[in-house]
Amino acid sequence: MIAITGANGNLGKATIRFLLQKVAPTDIVAIVRNPEKINEFKEKGVTVRQADYNDYNTLKQVFKGVETVLQISTIGVDIETAKQQERNVVNAIVENNVKHIVYTSMVQARPNTVFQGTQTQYYTEELIRKSNIPYTFFRNSMYMEAIPELIGNALQTNEIRYPSGSGKVSFVSRVDIAEAIANVLTGNTHGNQTHEITGNTAYSFDELARVISTEKSIIINHADISDEVFREELISYQMPVEVVDLLVSMANGIKVGEFSHVDSTLEKLLGRKSLDLNEYVKEL
Ligand SMILES: NC(=O)c1ccc[n+]([C@@H]2O[C@H](COP(=O)([O-])OP(=O)(O)OC[C@H]3O[C@@H](n4cnc5c(N)ncnc54)[C@H](OP(=O)(O)O)[C@@H]3O)[C@@H](O)[C@H]2O)c1
Repeated sequence: MIAITGANGNLGKATIRFLLQKVAPTDIVAIVRNPEKINEFKEKGVTVRQADYNDYNTLKQVFKGVETVLQISTIGVDIETAKQQERNVVNAIVENNVKHIVYTSMVQARPNTVFQGTQTQYYTEELIRKSNIPYTFFRNSMYMEAIPELIGNALQTNEIRYPSGSGKVSFVSRVDIAEAIANVLTGNTHGNQTHEITGNTAYSFDELARVISTEKSIIINHADISDEVFREELISYQMPVEVVDLLVSMANGIKVGEFSHVDSTLEKLLGRKSLDLNEYVKEL
């Protein structure tokens, strides 16, 4: 059986849709926090088990009989809470004699990154490496699907206000990632592997603005605002301060090149070309 944590999220659901083309629904266990939200798969015969990342005792139960786990990283805004959640999941997996962990990490994960989210995910990689369970790490670059949030209302204002300097991002389609994960979950590779999962090209926000201008036939510019102005704008949307800190750390991470790595592994795992940014933006 293959279990997927975070199965109610965008990546989890997309992965299950690809898995259903390859294995019987009864071989899939969707682990979710809110079971009532996952009717699409329950009706098809997928087993749904409930567990919160904060609840270790429940987590220990949901991996029973499971051979392969897709551990989808937590969103955890506060870094210590996020680490505790990830530790709970890894420990519960270890208790259940799982044969292969596929974990969604962040591109070029390493200690002491500027982006806080990568720090948590590198920490989880370390836990998994120490567990001695065979693993595959999907070190995903930033999703193309995150672009609408990154650019805000730029299609109306003609301006992307984002403090990323000339830092580049190798945007990658979340749906492509899901398909590649489903291929790995059902394939024969159980050795320890670390995949850098990126698009074909890295784009600065000036270049992103040009792609959007071309595909949408409007003029959009990138305004490289200061961290302080960015912070004030986020706070004006009533965003909690921890979320603001996380988003500022992400912009700073982009600025210093933490999301700029480009790698061809995704296309090898897919056996085809991955979605390129122009195609994605055209459909926005
Ligand atoms: N590479 C990127 O650009 C990028 C962007 C965003 C996120 N990420 C990372 O990639 C992961 C997957 O992305 P995604 O798009 O699928 O995110 P998503 O749609 O936000 O899904 C995250 C899932 O995690 C679940 N979750 C959150 N806290 C939980 C908890 N305490 N216990 C159990 N489940 C919990 C949520 O459950 P509910 O449905 O019940 O809320 C949700 O289903 C994210 O969690 C984040 O770590 C990467």
